[in-house]
Amino acid sequence: MLKSRPLKALIFAVCLAPAAWLGWRIWRMDLTANPLEFITHFTGDWTIRFLVITLAVTPFRKLLRLPDLIRFRRMFGLFAFFYACLHFATYLWLDKLFDVPEMVKDIGKRPFITAGFAALVCIAPLAATSTAGWIRRLGGRRWRLLHRLVYVSAAAGVAHYYWLVKSDIRLPALYGLLVALMLALRLVPGVRGSAAPRKPAAGSAYCGSPASTGSERGLS
Ligand code: HEM
Repeated sequence: MLKSRPLKALIFAVCLAPAAWLGWRIWRMDLTANPLEFITHFTGDWTIRFLVITLAVTPFRKLLRLPDLIRFRRMFGLFAFFYACLHFATYLWLDKLFDVPEMVKDIGKRPFITAGFAALVCIAPLAATSTAGWIRRLGGRRWRLLHRLVYVSAAAGVAHYYWLVKSDIRLPALYGLLVALMLALRLVPGVRGSAAPRKPAAGSAYCGSPASTGSERGLS
């Protein structure tokens, strides 16, 4: 069931729905009294949600005995990157009006911006190397090592969120707990999973379960 193409298309549409909804609100000029804050918060929220969802795939596929869940991990990771790009573009365009020196000053001066930028910098190479070709080029071991950066990105994202909230830290604390839990689960034998095959199979770039082909891997 998890292997069906319509399901994958449906999940893709669900992942895209927040962006479509934001587009609709922009079209209708229905962005609250502070559009910049609304768009920044909306895209930031979806970035961290998708990062956590991406991290949850490996433990969940093991705990629920649903190995085919791996098919969706790359998609979730790429959506995390997509929302991070929208979030960053909002900041650079609507907040900084493309004033790059001012942005660089901000990154150096404001710890929450430094952390957000670090989170983006960590996730970008993962999105770039999420394809089958890149797993082959880097080799499974190096690719897996590189893709552990997703934890660094999620941790930096949580720090970013924690530093920017003024008083109510419940949500950043919840995301922090979830990221720590996903990391802890990876250390549990039987729950941890490999992100890329350990050695190439004959006639293919990958080995591992037939369900987890290279094009379905990525970002953790
Ligand atoms: C993976 C990377 C990132 C994640 C996960 C992330 C996540 C978030 C979250 C969850 C929020 C708060 C949303 C809310 O309060 O509802 C936020 C706000 C914000 N983020 Fe990010 N962010 C990331 C990268 C960045 C980058 C690269 C920048 C700019 C360089 C940035 C700038 C901001 C700003 C300006 C705010 C609003 C702060 C305020 O309310 O005063 N973020 N982000």
